[in-house]
Amino acid sequence: MDTHFFLIVFSLILSSLFLSSATNSALRGGSYLSVENPNDLLVSPRGDFSAGFYPVGDNAYCFALWFSKPSCNNNCTVVWMANRNFPVNGKRSELLLLETGNLILADAGEATAWSTDTISRYPAELRLHDTGNLVLQNIEGDVLWQSFDSPTDTLLPLQPLTKYTELVSSRSHTNFSSGFYKLIFDDKNLLRLLYEGPEVSSVYWPYPCGEIEHERLATLVRDKKNKANGATPWIEEIIDPTLEGKYDQAKMEALISLALQCVEEDKDARPTMSRVVEMLLHLENDD
Ligand SMILES: *[C@@H]1O[C@H](CO)[C@@H](O)[C@H](O)[C@H]1NC(C)=O
Ligand SMILES: *[C@@H]1O[C@H](CO)[C@@H](O)[C@H](O)[C@H]1NC(C)=O
Repeated sequence: MDTHFFLIVFSLILSSLFLSSATNSALRGGSYLSVENPNDLLVSPRGDFSAGFYPVGDNAYCFALWFSKPSCNNNCTVVWMANRNFPVNGKRSELLLLETGNLILADAGEATAWSTDTISRYPAELRLHDTGNLVLQNIEGDVLWQSFDSPTDTLLPLQPLTKYTELVSSRSHTNFSSGFYKLIFDDKNLLRLLYEGPEVSSVYWPYPCGEIEHERLATLVRDKKNKANGATPWIEEIIDPTLEGKYDQAKMEALISLALQCVEEDKDARPTMSRVVEMLLHLENDD
């Protein structure tokens, strides 16, 4: 009796172990996940992340990664997508790991919507880790591809943003395709937020520094001029020191005053271009 009971409990534990590993965290070479089977998912060992086909519209699916705790049903927080701009059909689409080591997303069993373009001499597997990183690795331990290297609009803890990666916003709350806002390292390795719309493109963070510098410079020079009391030369600290003082003091003061007028806050206080030319000619002819 007791033995019988223990056997039942034991087999229950065993089968639950098997069930939990049936919702796999890895996909082996030569196997696939089907869009038609909602249980074809990769789940991270602790269950925090799932990877599978996610509905994005009428009969449109993306292969995606999302937070699966707390449980969510087709209304999940998606953290990564393979084919955000090329959703696949809800029939016969598959994510296949070929024996060659290439991971491909086949649309309706035909066109390739996305692939990792990888190749491996050794057997490979796709594994979803507890960090939320989906990693394609061969038995030699070589990482062929990983989702952490190609973020969409989300960085997870431990996931680096590098000069080779960027974050691109979604179109909207309900449309996962690429939007117009980007977080990137620019060519000077400065982290920037960029708006890149169909017509205009501009950096909106950090606040474009050209304008700040310009504003500060004008204020600085204006302050010096206002504090000067006729006797002290107020332009000395402003002039390029490589000139070594070899310039006409009066002319330089006049030029700087003119420059200040041109950057007046009130546009009506700025001289017209013809007036500027007139003053410059006057300075030149003064010789
Ligand atoms: C998302 O937006 C894009 C661009 O406007 C559009 O082409 C696409 O059809 C939209 N997708 C859905 C599911 O609404
Ligand atoms: C999805 O979840 C969000 C936040 O939990 C909720 O506001 C929204 O109504 C949900 N949408 C649907 C279609 O259930």
